[in-house]
Amino acid sequence: MTDRQSVPAAPETADVVILGAGPAGLVLGNLLHAAGVDCVVLERATRTQVQTRSRAGFLAANTVRILDRHGLAERLHRHGREHGVCEFRSEDGRFRLDYGALGRGERHTVYPQHALVTDLLAQYLDAGGRVRFGTEALAVHGADGPRPSVTVREADGRPGSWRAGYVAGCDGRHGAARRSLPPSTVRRHHHDHGVSWLGLLAEAPPSLDAVGYAVHDRGFAGHMARTPEVTRYYLQCERGSSPDTWSEDRIWDELALRLRAREYGPLRQGRIVHRAVVDLESDVLEPLRHGALFLAGDAAALISPAAAKGANLAVLEAELLARALIDDLRHGDAEGLARYSAQCLAHIWRAQDFSQWMVQLLHAAPGPAGGSAFHDSLRRSRLASLRASRSWQDWFAEHYVGL
Ligand code: APR
Repeated sequence: MTDRQSVPAAPETADVVILGAGPAGLVLGNLLHAAGVDCVVLERATRTQVQTRSRAGFLAANTVRILDRHGLAERLHRHGREHGVCEFRSEDGRFRLDYGALGRGERHTVYPQHALVTDLLAQYLDAGGRVRFGTEALAVHGADGPRPSVTVREADGRPGSWRAGYVAGCDGRHGAARRSLPPSTVRRHHHDHGVSWLGLLAEAPPSLDAVGYAVHDRGFAGHMARTPEVTRYYLQCERGSSPDTWSEDRIWDELALRLRAREYGPLRQGRIVHRAVVDLESDVLEPLRHGALFLAGDAAALISPAAAKGANLAVLEAELLARALIDDLRHGDAEGLARYSAQCLAHIWRAQDFSQWMVQLLHAAPGPAGGSAFHDSLRRSRLASLRASRSWQDWFAEHYVGL
């Protein structure tokens, strides 16, 4: 450590310091900057890393409306593709659900998340927004005092700090914002769904013209088109599995078995370009505010990928927080900030409830055979009701796409 590196830089300042350049942080940054609020985004990764991270890209209609409202959806409209059908395959046959014509008639827009983040970043920077890449937030201090601060590790390794009026924790489940909350002030609701997925990205065109959900006694398999050339697949796997123990042959064989390719048509194969194992968990904090520190996105609540709600909740929370901060900083009205946590938690718990329902619909229950036999009968009955009942289908469509 040279002398220069040991000398902490003088504190920098911003009215709002945003931790994290993911969907939550970048939507918040764009909205605050557009309203003339002095803000900065501190992001520990490099710009390239942020723009190339492969994540789900399944945007709800409300998410598109929010992005549209703020002029952030131009490329999304040009390159995104609408989706409104899902297909369930199980031991009781298969059926398609045109959810885009059910419930409120809303559809998803498929648009890779790294493309959305790239767009949000470009618009924020083009508008003159401040981002510090390679800057890791270490802790938030004095959130319940008059001048909160954030200590950071600068890109060159030097210690640094920021003084802020408000801090927005958009740095994910393992970020500094969550770590900085005094344990005595938060309730943490963690739930392990007991299921793990091997997430795969294949350089192959989609094999179905729908989102595919296959329920099989060997485990769940999912199919989601990303672009005309790239398809995302999921395979339920043992907890603790390593992605490297799955050869490409084994992956395609297992996907074909569980998606019942022999009955319903072969899969279009290609090179597997990304693989990762994710444990399906939920992890909600209450409240989402501690003094001048506010949480949004995964920092506020982690949700299982079973209903692809994560990024959609992140955008919704970012808009709610932006409105509340603008009302306070520009108009002296703190009412929105006072309501922020309760408003977000109402959306979060509704999404958690539907996501839990999807996990139980799509997976044989883990645990002792007796338990799973009971749950398996429940699962088959739910699927049969979803197949047969219009009221179930309207309910599903509203919650699957809605927020
Ligand atoms: N300091 C600075 N940046 C950090 C730190 C830290 N200590 N810790 C994490 N980050 C950055 C990460 O590098 C990432 O760019 O915070 C950002 C968090 O972004 P996301 O994980 O995408 O979280 P969020 O914006 O809440 O979006 C939530 O989007 O990623 C998808 O589906 C996923 O549900 C998730 C949703």
